[in-house]
Amino acid sequence: MSGNPFYLTTPIYYVNSVPHLGTAYTTVAADALARYRRMTGHDVHFLTGLDEHGQKVAQAAEENGVSPQEWVDSIAPKFQEVWELLDITNDDFIRTTDERHQRGAQAFLTKLFDQGDIYKGHYEGWYCVPCETYYAEDQLIEGECPSCGREVKFLQEDNYFFKLSAYQDFLIDLIENNPSFIEPKTRRNEVLSFVKSGLKDLSISRTTFEWGIPLPFDTDHVMYVWFDALLNYITALGFGENGEAEFSGDLGRFWPADVHFVGKDIIRFHCAIWPAMLHAAGVELPKQIFAHGFLLTKGEKMSKSKGNAQTPASLVDRFGVDAYRYYFLRDVNFGQDGSISMESMVQRYNGDLANDWGNLCSRLFNMIGKYFDGVVPPAPTEFTDSDETLRAYAGVLPEKYEDAMQRLDYSGALEAVWDLVKGTNYYIENEAPWGLAKAEETWPRLEAVLYNALEAVRIAALYCFPAMPRTSTEVWERLGLGEIVAITDIETEAAWGRLPSGNAVIKGDPLFPRIYEDK
Ligand code: MSP
Repeated sequence: MSGNPFYLTTPIYYVNSVPHLGTAYTTVAADALARYRRMTGHDVHFLTGLDEHGQKVAQAAEENGVSPQEWVDSIAPKFQEVWELLDITNDDFIRTTDERHQRGAQAFLTKLFDQGDIYKGHYEGWYCVPCETYYAEDQLIEGECPSCGREVKFLQEDNYFFKLSAYQDFLIDLIENNPSFIEPKTRRNEVLSFVKSGLKDLSISRTTFEWGIPLPFDTDHVMYVWFDALLNYITALGFGENGEAEFSGDLGRFWPADVHFVGKDIIRFHCAIWPAMLHAAGVELPKQIFAHGFLLTKGEKMSKSKGNAQTPASLVDRFGVDAYRYYFLRDVNFGQDGSISMESMVQRYNGDLANDWGNLCSRLFNMIGKYFDGVVPPAPTEFTDSDETLRAYAGVLPEKYEDAMQRLDYSGALEAVWDLVKGTNYYIENEAPWGLAKAEETWPRLEAVLYNALEAVRIAALYCFPAMPRTSTEVWERLGLGEIVAITDIETEAAWGRLPSGNAVIKGDPLFPRIYEDK
């Protein structure tokens, strides 16, 4: 595939339970970016996967009376089913139990060990199993995990350490000199003060349980699950496969990653430990780490442990997959926490999708059927002021959309599309084609107005595609156009006037039938 490479990743999810709306949130956002970057001609590599080792997963297996391997093998397909349900177009799916990952992780660790970045020592401290995180006594809040508030366990064992403290100055320089390395700014400041407060060496092995990757130089130990997990971003591309020529193939093509998507709870791992690990091994750093906020229901983070987790399927059944994707991308500001509720979802659905977008398509396609036997009328060559206003909405869209997507402002990107959608609705109201259809002398104007409106719909559908691939595909089909998914130059496609006159237009069913709350 030609085009500039673009590599994006999601966190790899713990397989202690099936995905809920919170965990699916990152994957949907990443998918929208992957789809958009394919439309801007990039050679996209979109990675997601599963974090299958560690105590938390081993415990889930035990509670279910099966071996860890059986457990992860039974949960992995459930994740893949959800990604299919949500139309996720990941190019690869890594599991940390994959041979390729274990081999790569061991190769990486061997490299650090051989060069003296790993040493054996004694660890004493507190461990939170649900967060798979070590804490010092003074970090605990009322004796409990400062992150999730749950019980922590006192650990005391001889294990191996990574010399994280040696990379403190490097990290400070990195973060201070690369303002866009960590986004948004609040998270950047948070990581910076964490690093400046002093980094301790990181315990990277465990001997008290076995569910992990054995250390290549001491097989009594398994790798700390986070050390193992972070490496997925390079092992998926083949790190450790080719010895000296390790930066050939996909690794050479796609690394460094353009963006790692993460939730705000895992930034220390991604923005401090991960860059230090890579730097130690002489591997280039990712270009950006973007941390999004939490989805909240009734003011609380959605999570399995809080008992408020909802599955994507429950919402997809009711609203459809496109509306699902649209809601989370449009209603929550990516980078901040966002409250979600059934009421706001119904509101978005009925307002933006059923009224603004679905209705626009229905009434327009109906009019084409009624006045022009379902055929796109001739394209006008002259434009009135009102036409120019509509054309201007379409004209600024590519730049506005691109600008918003550069900042991963999905909501802003969709708002820009909605300026066009609403502008088109206004245009139709204002031009009142049904009035123009009444007299022969206004027939040419009727043709012009409906062509312009169809053209605006074509362009809006194009830019709806990353968020709502199914309905955009459908709209393009109804307009007699080619495959929207194959587009690799969205800006050229968005140029005004590319809708061929004479195309047959299919009326079709409403794209988003209205939902009544008491349903
Ligand atoms: N396995 C680690 C990640 C390793 S990446 C090398 C992990 N897994 S997780 O399954 O617990 O969480 C995965 C992601 O889901 C995190 O980015 C987390 O922020 C996100 N979310 C979990 N609940 C969430 C919400 N309620 N809202 C938004 N995202 C949330 O951490």
